Amino acid sequence: MSSSSTKGPSLLEKRICAWHAALQSEYHSLCRIAIALYEPDSDTLSTYVYSNAGESPLTLYEAKLANVPSLQQIAETREPRVINDLSVLSHSPAQHTQSILGSGLRSSHTVPIFDDNGLFGFLFYNSTEQEFFSPAVLLKLRIYTDLISLVVLEEARPIRTLRAAVNTARSFAQHRDAETGKHLERMARYARLIARSIAGRHGLTDQYVELLFQLAPLHDVGKIAVPDRILLKTGRLTGDEFSIMKSHVPKGIEIVSMLMEEFSLEKLEYGQMLKNVVAYHHENFDGAGYPHGLSGSDIPIEARITRVADVFDALTSERPYKEAWTNDKAMQELKENRGGMFDPECVDALSESISAVEEIQQMFTQDFLG
Ligand SMILES: [Fe+2]
Ligand SMILES: [Fe+2]
Repeated sequence: MSSSSTKGPSLLEKRICAWHAALQSEYHSLCRIAIALYEPDSDTLSTYVYSNAGESPLTLYEAKLANVPSLQQIAETREPRVINDLSVLSHSPAQHTQSILGSGLRSSHTVPIFDDNGLFGFLFYNSTEQEFFSPAVLLKLRIYTDLISLVVLEEARPIRTLRAAVNTARSFAQHRDAETGKHLERMARYARLIARSIAGRHGLTDQYVELLFQLAPLHDVGKIAVPDRILLKTGRLTGDEFSIMKSHVPKGIEIVSMLMEEFSLEKLEYGQMLKNVVAYHHENFDGAGYPHGLSGSDIPIEARITRVADVFDALTSERPYKEAWTNDKAMQELKENRGGMFDPECVDALSESISAVEEIQQMFTQDFLG
C-alpha cells in the first residue's frame, strides 16, 4: 500500500553525474562536483547533491554560513572563487575543510547560486591536481555551471510553488491553529536531524534529507478542511469530533493531489515523499494508528520521522489545551512509547541530538497564537 520514496538516485543526481562523467573524460583529475543549499532563516548551509569519484568527503553535513567566512565573502561579492592550492587551508579548524583536504583534493572552484530571493546555494568543483583551474578550464566549466544551476533551481521551483499555495490556502481558511508558524519551523528541523542521523542505515541521501525538511511541514495540510470549532477546541473531543479531526489525513491527500495537478507538479520527483508524509503521519509503529493501521517498516520512513518530530514539538509547545512540557518530560514520553506509537530508531536519533534540539528551540522560540 505504501511505497517508499527513498530508492535509487534522483533525476538531479543522475544528471549531475552524467555531466561530471562527460567532464572527467577530458579532465581526469576533476573528481568532485557538489552542491550545498542555503537556508536564510537559520543561516545554514547543508550538503545536497554530489558526484564524486570514490566516496564523498562531505555528506549529511551542515554549517552556519557565518562560520565559513570564505563562502560568506563569495556570497557577498557574488564572485566565483578559485583556490589552486588547497594546502593554504591546512591550518583551518573547520571540519569540512579537513575532510576535503583529507580526501586528497588539492584545488577548488566555488560558484554561488542565486535566485530571486537571494543566495540559493553553492556549487563546488574540486580537483586532485594543484593549479588545475586554469582560465581555459574555467571557461569550459562555465557552461556546466549554468546547466547545473539551472536544473537545481528548476527542481526547487515546484516545491516552493506548492509551499506558497499551501500558505495561501491556510490564510484563506483564516484559522489560527497551532499548526502554523514556529511549530512547523521546528518540527521540520527535528525531522532533518532524525533523518540525517538514521540516513546511513536507510540509504537516505542528502537530497532526501533536505527535501524531507522542506516537505514535512505540509503533513497537516488537510487541517484546512477541519472546522475551527474542532481544531481549536480546548476540551476533550467527542467521538464524532475526533472522526472529523481524523479526516484531515484523507483531506490532506486530496489537497496535495489537487495542488500537484493544478500546478502541473505530477512530475515533482519527491511527490511520493510528500504524499507519504501526509498519508501516514498518524500511523503508529505498533499498528495502532490511523487511517490504515500500518506497522513497522510498512510505514514509509519519512512518515515515521515526521511523526516523532511533530509530536515532540507538540509536546514541548504550549497549546490551547496544555502547557509546554520540558524537553526532559517530552523525551521521556517518546521513550515510553518507543516501539509503540513511535519508531524506536527515530526516538533514539532525536534523544541523541538534544543539544541540536535546544539550538533549534532557541532559534525558533515559541510564538503561541492563543
Ligand atoms: Fe496530523
Ligand atoms: Fe503538527
